[in-house]
Amino acid sequence: VLLAADVAEPVVATVLDELRRASARWGGTVVVADGSTPATGHDVVLAVASHAATPGSGSAREAHASTAPYAPVLRALLGGALTVDAGAPLQDGMFAVGRQDGVAVVVAAPGAALLYGMHALVRHGERAFEGPDELLWDLPVQDVRMLDHWDNVDVHDVMGQVERGYSGGSIFYDAGQLRDDLSRARAYARLLGSVGINAVGLNNVNVHRTEARLLTDRLGDVVRLAEVFRPHGIRVYLSVSFAAPMTIGGLPSSDPIDPEVQAWWAARAADVYAAVPDFGGFVVKADSEGRPGPFAYGRDHADGANLLARALAPYGGTVFWRAFVYDHTQDWRDRSTDRARAAYDHFAPLDGRFDDNVVLQVKYGPMDFQVREPVSPVIAAMPRTRLAVELQVTQEYTGQQQHAVWLGPQWSEILAFGFHGEGSRTVAEIAAGLPGRGTDPRPFPAAGLVAVSNVGDDEFWTGHPLAQANLYTFARLAWDPSADVRAVLDEWIGLTFPGPEPGGGTEPVVRETLHAVLDESWRTYEAYTSPLGVGFMVRPGHHYGPDVDGYEYTPWGTYHFADRDGIGVDRTRATGTGYTSQYPAPWRDVYEDLATVPDELLLFFHHVPYGHVLRDGTTVIQHVYDTHFAGAARTEELAKAWTDVEGRVPDALFARVAERLAEQVRSAHEWRDQLTTYFRRKSGVPDARGRTIY
Ligand code: GCU
Repeated sequence: VLLAADVAEPVVATVLDELRRASARWGGTVVVADGSTPATGHDVVLAVASHAATPGSGSAREAHASTAPYAPVLRALLGGALTVDAGAPLQDGMFAVGRQDGVAVVVAAPGAALLYGMHALVRHGERAFEGPDELLWDLPVQDVRMLDHWDNVDVHDVMGQVERGYSGGSIFYDAGQLRDDLSRARAYARLLGSVGINAVGLNNVNVHRTEARLLTDRLGDVVRLAEVFRPHGIRVYLSVSFAAPMTIGGLPSSDPIDPEVQAWWAARAADVYAAVPDFGGFVVKADSEGRPGPFAYGRDHADGANLLARALAPYGGTVFWRAFVYDHTQDWRDRSTDRARAAYDHFAPLDGRFDDNVVLQVKYGPMDFQVREPVSPVIAAMPRTRLAVELQVTQEYTGQQQHAVWLGPQWSEILAFGFHGEGSRTVAEIAAGLPGRGTDPRPFPAAGLVAVSNVGDDEFWTGHPLAQANLYTFARLAWDPSADVRAVLDEWIGLTFPGPEPGGGTEPVVRETLHAVLDESWRTYEAYTSPLGVGFMVRPGHHYGPDVDGYEYTPWGTYHFADRDGIGVDRTRATGTGYTSQYPAPWRDVYEDLATVPDELLLFFHHVPYGHVLRDGTTVIQHVYDTHFAGAARTEELAKAWTDVEGRVPDALFARVAERLAEQVRSAHEWRDQLTTYFRRKSGVPDARGRTIY
C-alpha cells in the first residue's frame, strides 16, 4: 500500500495507523511516499490531492458519483507527481475510490476525506480489486453530520447520567470526572470517523451546575476529548447555559445587549480557542423546558443566538441554537394553545435575523421525536437561515433500546418529504443547501443533520445490540439522505456479522433473520403503540410503556382528547388550533381536509368519531383493535425468528437480543391490552372480531 499524504496531519496519521493495523493482520506492507518513492508497483494507492477548492459551490455536489473530470488528476498522481492541481473544485469530505491503471485507488480532498475514502474502500471489499478502470467520486451531501450527547458529568435526578440514555453510563465521564481511561471514547471516535460523522456535542443540552464548568475550570476535559476526536476528523462542541454569565461569571445579568455580558462570552470563547483551536462551537437550549434564555430580558432568540455567535465568530465557531421552544406550563383546560404551533410561531418571524454562524437546530416534527409526526413546518419557513434537522437515535419514545426498532425507514421518509408536494424540494435538500426544484430553486443556506446519540458504557454499546444499526444508519443518511435505506441496513449487517470464514461473508440465515427482525420494526412499533399519529400515551417522566391518559391533564401540551365519541387533536384552520396554516401548499390543504389527510396522521390533525372510516374501509376504533393485536403478535414472530441464529452470532450477543425481544413481547402485549381496553371502555364499541379485551 502506498500512502501519499502528509502524515503529520492528525487524520492522515489515523489512516496510516489503520493501514498498519490491517497489514499486521492480513499481510502486506505500508509505504509512505516521500517524493522519491516510485508510485508504481503497489496494489493500493491512497493520496491526497492538492487543489483549488471552492467550498460551497454546487458543481462538485452535482459531480457526485461521476468520474470524468478527475481521471487526469489521478493519472498525474500515479505518474509520480504527488501534488496536483485538480483544476476543478474539490470539496470538504470529497474522495474517489476505484481503479486506475490496474491499481486500487483512493484519492481525496485534504482534511478527513482520505479517512472516508479508505473506509469506502473497505466497504467495497474485493470489488476494489477487480473490474475496469473507473473512479467513483463521492462526497457528503450534508455539511453538518453531528451527534449530540445528552451526557452529564455527574449523575442527575431520576434520568441518570445520560439523559434519555439506555446504554448505561457515559463513555466520557464517570463519578463526576472525565474518565482517566478514554479507550472507549477512542473506539467510538474511530467508529464515527469511519462513517463520516464530523461533529460531536460533549454534554447534555440541559446544562447542570457541574457541566457548565466545562467552559471554565473544567476546560481541560474538553481539551482531552478534543484530542480523542481530532484524529478522526471530528470537532467537539459544548452545550452551554444562557445564564452562565450569572451562574458562573458572577454578573448581575445575562442580557444579550449588555456589553459586560458580551465581553464575558467573548472572553470564554477566547479561552476555549486558546485551548482547543479547532473547537466547533456551542449548542444551546434556551427558553425551553425551564432553561434560561433571552425571554427573561424581553429579547428574542435572534438576539440570544447572535450574542454567542459574535463571541465565536473570530475563531470560526458555530452556534447550534435549538428551536425546541414551547410552553411546558400550559393549562390543559386551555384548548387554544397548541404545542405543535410553538416553534414556528417563535422562529419563523426571525428569518433573516440570525448571523451566518448560527445554525437553527429543528426537531424533525413539531412535537417531540414521536414514532409518527408530520414534518416540522419550521424547516420550510426560514429560507434565509441555516437550519439543521434534529433526529433522535436514542430511542426515547421508540422502545428505549429494549425494543428492536430500526428507525432508518422513518428518517428516510422524513428526509425525502417534499414541502411543496411530490417531487419538490425535500427536507434533506433544505438542510444541505441544495437548489430546490419546481417553484423556488433558490438554495437555503447549508447546514445538515444532528441526532442524539445512543451509546453508553454498556457491553454492547447501545444496550440492545441491534440498536447499533440506528447509529450506523443515521451516519450513512447524513452522508447521503437518498441512500436506499434497506441497502444501508444490509451493509451494516455485512460489516457487523462478517461470518465464520475470513472473507466468506455473512451467513445467509443471519442476514435474513436480521432483516426479518428489523426491516418492518418501526411500523410494528407504531402498530402496538399510539395510533394514527396521535402520539405519547406513554408513562409520564421516563416515557416507557403505555399510559393512555398519563399526560392528558398535565401542563406538557401533549393531549389526545379522547372522549366517548371520538379522539384526536383538531389542528385545522376551520375549527381547530390553525396549525395547518403553517404549511405551504399543498400540505396546508391536504392536512386540513379529512378527505385528503393521510391516515397515519389523521389523529394528529383531526378529532374524529370512532366510526370514522379509513381508506382501507376500517373504522378508527377497529383500526386501534386490529393494529394492536397484529403488532403484538408480530413481536412473538420476531422473538421466534431470532432463535434461528443461535450459535451463528456470538453467544453473549445472542442472549442479550433474546432477552430484549422477550421484554419487547411482554411490553407490546401490555400496550395492546391497555390500549384496546381503554378504547373499548371509552367508546363502548366492541371488537368486530370478538378478541379478548379486558
Ligand atoms: C424531550 C426529552 C428531554 C429533552 C428534550 C430536549 O423533551 O424528554 O429529556 O431534554 O426533549 O430535546 O431538549
